[in-house]
Amino acid sequence: MRTRIKNAKVVLPDGVAEIDVVVEGTKIADIDSASQLAVDETIDARGLHLIPGVIDDQVHFREPGLTHKEDLAHASRACAKGGVTTFLEMPNTVPNAITQQLVEDKLRLAAASSIVNYGFYIGATPDNLDELKRATRTPGIKIFIGSSTGDLLVDDQNALERIFAETTLPLTAHCEDEATVRANRDRIGETSDVADHSRIRDHEAAIIATKRAMDLAVRHKHRFHVLHVSTAGECELLANHHRLLTGEACPHHLFFSIDDYERLGTLIQMNPSLKTRDDNAAVWQALLDGRLQVIATDHAPHTLDEKRKPYPQSPSGLPAVENSLALLLNEVHQGRCTIEQVVHWMCDAPARVWDIVNKGRIAVGYDADLVLVDLEKQQTIRNEDQLTKCGWSPWDGVELVGWPVRTWVMGHEVFCDGQIVASQRGHEALYDHARGGYWATEA
Ligand code: DOR
Repeated sequence: MRTRIKNAKVVLPDGVAEIDVVVEGTKIADIDSASQLAVDETIDARGLHLIPGVIDDQVHFREPGLTHKEDLAHASRACAKGGVTTFLEMPNTVPNAITQQLVEDKLRLAAASSIVNYGFYIGATPDNLDELKRATRTPGIKIFIGSSTGDLLVDDQNALERIFAETTLPLTAHCEDEATVRANRDRIGETSDVADHSRIRDHEAAIIATKRAMDLAVRHKHRFHVLHVSTAGECELLANHHRLLTGEACPHHLFFSIDDYERLGTLIQMNPSLKTRDDNAAVWQALLDGRLQVIATDHAPHTLDEKRKPYPQSPSGLPAVENSLALLLNEVHQGRCTIEQVVHWMCDAPARVWDIVNKGRIAVGYDADLVLVDLEKQQTIRNEDQLTKCGWSPWDGVELVGWPVRTWVMGHEVFCDGQIVASQRGHEALYDHARGGYWATEA
C-alpha cells in the first residue's frame, strides 16, 4: 500500500517545505513533489502541517497493577488523538518493572493492546544491579533519587555510585532530595494546604538532587537525562552539559505555577512540585536557548476521586498526553516559538536522547509515524472528551489554537477527524545505544 500526502507544509530536519511525502507500508518511501511512484491513495493536506509523530519519553500508563487509573488501551488511544506515536513508560507500575522479565511482560501487554509504539524503562533499586547491567529492549534505566508515587527509591550514595559506574544503558532520574523533603515536611508539620506541597518539595530539593545526579554522571562519564526540570536553578546547572547531560521540561512546569493552586488545588499537585511564574519563564527560556532539549508530559493519571481527596491524602500526578502537542502548538500560534522548535523538542530530540532507531524525523527510510496538524483549529479541552481512562484534564475548559487532526503509526492510520480508526497494534521501539545519545548525533 502506497499513500501520497500532498500539499502539506512538511516539517523536515532542515526547515518547512511544501512537498509530497510518499508512505509505503511502514516507511517513508519518498519526499519529492516530482516523485513518479504510483500510489494507491492520495491525501490532499492543503493548509495543514505534516510533522513526525511525537515521542513522549516520560509517561505512567499504570499497567499492570494500577489499571483503575489508566491502562495501555485507553492511554494509547489518547496518544493517537494527541499526535503521540511512541511512548516510553516508567517502571513504577505494580509490580515495579525492575527485572528483564518484568520489562518483557509489559512489552507483551503493550503488543496486545497499544495502538501506538511503545517502550518501557527498567527501574533501579538498591540491589538489582545485575538486572540493570544485562537489561535489553529498553530505552534506559530510571532511578528515583527521591521518592514519588510508589516505593522505588535509590538514595544510598554507594548504590548510586555503582549504578553510574557499572551500567552502560542511558540513565535518567526523578530528582528531588529525600533528606530536604523530609526536613521540610518535619518543619512545616501537619498541613492540609496543597500550597505546602511546593514548600515541602521546594527549589532546594530539586536543585540538590539534580546537582548530585549530574556530579555522578560527570565523574563516571555516564550519559544522563534530567526529567521534569522545574526550577531556574536546574536550568542554570544544565548550561554545563559536558556533552553527557540532557534535560526535559513538562507542560505543567511551563504553564502552571503555585499561583494556580487556589484555582485548581490538588488537581495540579505534582512531583516535582509546581514552582513560581519566574521558574515557568526560566524553563521556557532554557528550551529556547537549548539548555533543555526535550518536552515530555510525565502523564501521571489518578482518578478524580483520588485527586479530590484533601491534601496530603491526594496523590501527585496529572494526565497530559492527550493535549501536550496542542498545548505547544498553541504557543506557536501565540508566536512564542516555531513549529520547527516544537518538532525538535517533542520528536527529534527524544529520539536522539534514547537512540531510537528511525524515528523523530520526516526522512526517507524513517518510520511513517506522522501527524497532520491544523495550526488554525480552535478547540476547547473538555473532561468529557478525554480518551484517557482517568477521564479528566487539568486544562479542562481551556481553548487552544493548533491541534493534531490525523495520525499514522508505522504507516497505519490511527486517528482521523476526531475518531480513533486504528485496527492494528503499535510496534516496540528499537534502540541503537551504540549511537551514544543526543550529543553524539548530528542536530
Ligand atoms: O507527580 C508525580 N506522579 N510525579 C512522578 O514522578 C510520578 C508520578 C506518578 O507516577 O504518579
